[in-house]
Amino acid sequence: MGLAQRMPARRRVLLASDRPDLSDDLASILQNVSDVDQIATQDIPDNPADNYVGVVVDIDLSSVGSVQTIRRKLTHKTYQALPRLFVLAEGMHRESTQAWSLGATDTIRWPFDSDTILQRIRASFPESAEDASSSAEALKAGVSAATAVMVKIFEKLPAGEPLTLDDVMRAETRILKALKRTSIREWLLAVNKHHARSYRHCLLVTGYAVAFAQHLNMREDDQRRLVRAALIHDVGKAYIPLSILNKTEALTPREEIELSKHAQIGYDVLKSHGDFPREMLDVVLHHHEMLDGSGYPDGLKGEEISDLVRMITIADIFAMLVEDRLDSPPMSPANAFTVMEGLKGKIDMHLLYAFRPVAFGA
Ligand SMILES: [Fe+2]
Ligand SMILES: [Fe+2]
Repeated sequence: MGLAQRMPARRRVLLASDRPDLSDDLASILQNVSDVDQIATQDIPDNPADNYVGVVVDIDLSSVGSVQTIRRKLTHKTYQALPRLFVLAEGMHRESTQAWSLGATDTIRWPFDSDTILQRIRASFPESAEDASSSAEALKAGVSAATAVMVKIFEKLPAGEPLTLDDVMRAETRILKALKRTSIREWLLAVNKHHARSYRHCLLVTGYAVAFAQHLNMREDDQRRLVRAALIHDVGKAYIPLSILNKTEALTPREEIELSKHAQIGYDVLKSHGDFPREMLDVVLHHHEMLDGSGYPDGLKGEEISDLVRMITIADIFAMLVEDRLDSPPMSPANAFTVMEGLKGKIDMHLLYAFRPVAFGA
């Protein structure tokens, strides 16, 4: 076998641009980690070469013509399967909404910092087609490990089979790997297919929490604390009637009270099992507490709420807003983020802003 054949294949990305003069800088940065085919938007082939690992779109998102062209060009199913990274002009909020509506999996913003871009490229685009299939495997393994924990929580636990810390920890490695190898967006697509609302919700929260921890470059043991806590945060819902959990209209005040009991119930159940660490029990009991004391069940305030709980609360509320619910249409990430900005004083704003790239699918 010749040397060339043993060399790992380089990523190959399509850089779609309607402003070649401005895209040249970006192309030369991208060339550090990938081969780049820079193609004018209108010349993008309808039936692309199948060796691209992703598309970088650098167009004028405020131009209706440019947006229509790229929308039309990227409808081919080979493009549909590829991650799309959009370049945004500096400080243009509406552009980011436009990018997400065009199926962006991530965005980068002028002015370019080459380290940041390279990091995003590595995170968004797998190394090669071969790598892409092992990413798909990792995603599948992670989702099924997490789903197995949900089965334990929502089916076995109420039937009297205790949940153990080991059940939860067994899933950790595969979930962390899935999110490391793919992206929160792919995780969401995979778990949103789940038919049961409570499963879906917990799987979403888990994805957001892990992606958050990874985005913050947390140490591996801290990532594990996050994934554990997220998986079990709503364990008490296993004891709430399905007529409330799956209700298709707004809950009555009495049903709201019933639902809110899940925090205390979950805590009591896991505490009686004995082997769950205090900080996990704390998340189960306190993930609905608010910094201003308006949350439940204990009306904790400020410093009484740990960082771990604060992070789970952010992932939890965000997941709830963007969830595919029966009683209300899901919100776009941008709208959900705006709603959360309105919770100033209740949730940790520093953490919320740190969460922003995760919220937008980085
Ligand atoms: Fe909850
Ligand atoms: Fe929740």
